[in-house]
Amino acid sequence: MGSDGSAGPAGTLVIFGASGDLTRRKLGPSLYSLHAKGRLPRDLRVLGFARSEMDDGEFRSYLAEAVQEFAPDFDQATWDELAGRLHYVAGDMTESGAYEALGRRLAELDDGAAPRLYYLAVAPRFFEAAVRGLGAAGLADDQEAPRNLVVEKPFGRDLDSARRLNEILYCAFREPQVFRIDHYLGKETAQNLLYLRFANTIFEPVWNRNYVDNVQITVAETVDVGRRAGYYDQAGVLRDMFQNHLLQLFTLVAMEPPAPFNQTTLRDEKVKVLSATRPVAREDVVLGQYEGFLDAEGVAPDSRTPTYAALRLQVDNWRWEGVPFYLRSGKALDAKATTIHIEFKRPPSRLFGAFQSPAPNILSICIQPDEGVHMRFDAKVPDEPSRTAPVDMEFHYGDSFPCVGLPDAYERLLLDALQGDASLFARSDEIENAWRLIDPVVAASEDPASGRPAVYEPGSAGPREAERLPGREGRVWREVCVSHD
Ligand code: BG6
Repeated sequence: MGSDGSAGPAGTLVIFGASGDLTRRKLGPSLYSLHAKGRLPRDLRVLGFARSEMDDGEFRSYLAEAVQEFAPDFDQATWDELAGRLHYVAGDMTESGAYEALGRRLAELDDGAAPRLYYLAVAPRFFEAAVRGLGAAGLADDQEAPRNLVVEKPFGRDLDSARRLNEILYCAFREPQVFRIDHYLGKETAQNLLYLRFANTIFEPVWNRNYVDNVQITVAETVDVGRRAGYYDQAGVLRDMFQNHLLQLFTLVAMEPPAPFNQTTLRDEKVKVLSATRPVAREDVVLGQYEGFLDAEGVAPDSRTPTYAALRLQVDNWRWEGVPFYLRSGKALDAKATTIHIEFKRPPSRLFGAFQSPAPNILSICIQPDEGVHMRFDAKVPDEPSRTAPVDMEFHYGDSFPCVGLPDAYERLLLDALQGDASLFARSDEIENAWRLIDPVVAASEDPASGRPAVYEPGSAGPREAERLPGREGRVWREVCVSHD
């Protein structure tokens, strides 16, 4: 995976949608932070490209404001060093003339022998025009130097549209040039899943059907759909969260160790897990919609769009046969937390008291907000002849690495893309396999015969109906990790 240090070839980052929200909230602050840490490739130039008329100076002021707002440790002198590397060209990306202007500006900034990274920070409806425009202007041709493309989600809204989007990308780029962003893969704690599993000896031997009883992945959000109601009503939680973020976490937990470790083998192993996952049965899905969703502006009055879903997945392979994976995610819930629980089987005999069944060991990986790892095991209660109680062994990033803040996911992903490392980006076959799993679930949710999603109260733990997924197998949802301060 990507390396640190400012070494790296000079090159140009071209941001499509440079006056947009993503650039302001994420890309600008990430560039600043990477520069402040000395990690930005030396001599990298940034060329903003958008419709708004601005010159370089105005673009610099625009980004400075955004960085001051979103990067807490703003330092004027550090910013001034970076600002000199920022440039701007105005253009309508749906018009071919804009790409000639872009090409001319690029030729002024670099000699063409340097790598270029095109970042599509624009709505999906512009992807096709951007890709075709770059292709027609000869700007995607990577014979002389890398010409890579970053694409933001959504990657289609089902398998067919994802395939079509891939075909569009391939009009001008080849698969190895395409970097599809899933910001969950840039989260430090999601990356740590691989380190936890494969940089330690103690976890991997028990990471299988012989020891694991079930796995639970929860991505809970307190926010409701807010101002994104129009988009969200078309997407729903299955497209917005499951097809990408939850399935990415799932593959990191379930995959085999990639060997040798590189971007190809890592993504091969993730694809293998998705291909080995059984189609989701209707009875393995619970859908919910928070009360009030139908009143949000932009939502159809009779919308059946789920804002909550719980799924039971089953991987048909040697390692996981018979181990259920329960996944759930929703908006307007009682906690903002992403947690993975690996629940182990109970010990085979009850040595300590005939009536007491020991609690299962649970390894909890807290992706956010209180990032860390907890291991729950039973201990003897002091001064009691044979009573046990569950206790926790805990690792918190904040305690173990007090001087190192967790970087924003975009920082890591942007740096990796600049360095041409695609390990933390989704490959086309990952995307297509994820849709293959999610499409039938979406279709069932849209089928009038299958009933409306269960209504749940905002600020609750979601619909009660979700309890039946683990419940009918004698299991329960485990609590998510919430911040301890
Ligand atoms: C986005 C979804 O991809 O991820 C949003 O579109 C969601 O609906 C967000 O709120 C969650 O990301 P995070 O990093 O806040 O957990």
